[in-house]
Amino acid sequence: MGKTGRDFTQIYTIYGVDNWQTPLFLLIHAISFAFLSVFFLLYFEPICYFSQHLFPFLGPSSARFAAGFTGSVTALSAVCLFFAAGNIFYSSVSLQWEMGQRMVNAVPDWSTVKHALDLGCGRGILLNAVALQLKKSGSSGRVVGLTPARISGGNGSKITPNTLSTLRTACLEGVEEYVTCRAGDPRTLPFSDNYFDVVVSGVFLHTIGKEFGQKTAAASAERMRVLGEVVRVLKPGGVAVIWDLVHVPEFMQRLHELRMEEIRMSESVLAFMVISHIVSFRKPIQHSVGLSEVRLDWRFNNLC
Ligand SMILES: C[S@@+](CC[C@H](N)C(=O)[O-])C[C@H]1O[C@@H](n2cnc3c(N)ncnc32)[C@H](O)[C@@H]1O
Repeated sequence: MGKTGRDFTQIYTIYGVDNWQTPLFLLIHAISFAFLSVFFLLYFEPICYFSQHLFPFLGPSSARFAAGFTGSVTALSAVCLFFAAGNIFYSSVSLQWEMGQRMVNAVPDWSTVKHALDLGCGRGILLNAVALQLKKSGSSGRVVGLTPARISGGNGSKITPNTLSTLRTACLEGVEEYVTCRAGDPRTLPFSDNYFDVVVSGVFLHTIGKEFGQKTAAASAERMRVLGEVVRVLKPGGVAVIWDLVHVPEFMQRLHELRMEEIRMSESVLAFMVISHIVSFRKPIQHSVGLSEVRLDWRFNNLC
């Protein structure tokens, strides 16, 4: 049972584990390293004896040191690998659910929400958390999940996106009437200006511009472009809540430049073995500069 009172077995059954190969790969290595370190512990004397015969230039004390050092490093590696496997397994579903609840709670009033957007909705953990909240608060609002327009297959082929699995999870959560999906490019969102009361996004923005390399200026510009799109499609007075890995301080700076209001960053949370934060903000109702009021253009392109 998680902190939010939800049975995690049920959550894992509904959503499965995304990229399950990664925690499995880490777990297999962790188990191998653990066996190896136990082997070193149980057969320490024979290993020292054997290494002295294999490498005659090693004296008895050097052989003991080498065996002890190798055994310790192996044990330490096993601990690190177990931790990484556990953290990635936990991050892939349970943590996403917990963070989804926190993100939903960061929106002060759901009863007035008519349109919400989940950017990069994936299997729909956050999407369904929003839909459950809309259902709970008796709102007539609906939530749209943005799915990729096209995904490149491993062999370079183009596969049309399948949003069915996302919609299926909504059915399993009993919120199918509140949810829909729309394919599109997050850099040019297929929605009009000032449309959404709420925009959310969970562990998605860091994937933008990856093709340029995570730390490059080009990737950062792409992420900022998507952030500009979030601001563009938000209604004045609307709230956005974004949970992301690594780049949140960069988002904070940009949101200040865009003169958003009530910008808040959560404490750090270890997710997928890196630091993550939730950032929330409100789009101002209006901006006044000097004597006359001006409507700002939120598009990133116009600001460079
Ligand atoms: C880590 S998952 C997000 C998980 C999701 N927030 C949830 O709560 O289940 C990232 C998702 O972004 C989606 N994605 C990747 N590129 C995208 C794009 N260009 N537009 C929309 N979604 C995209 C992928 O399908 C992937 O499932």
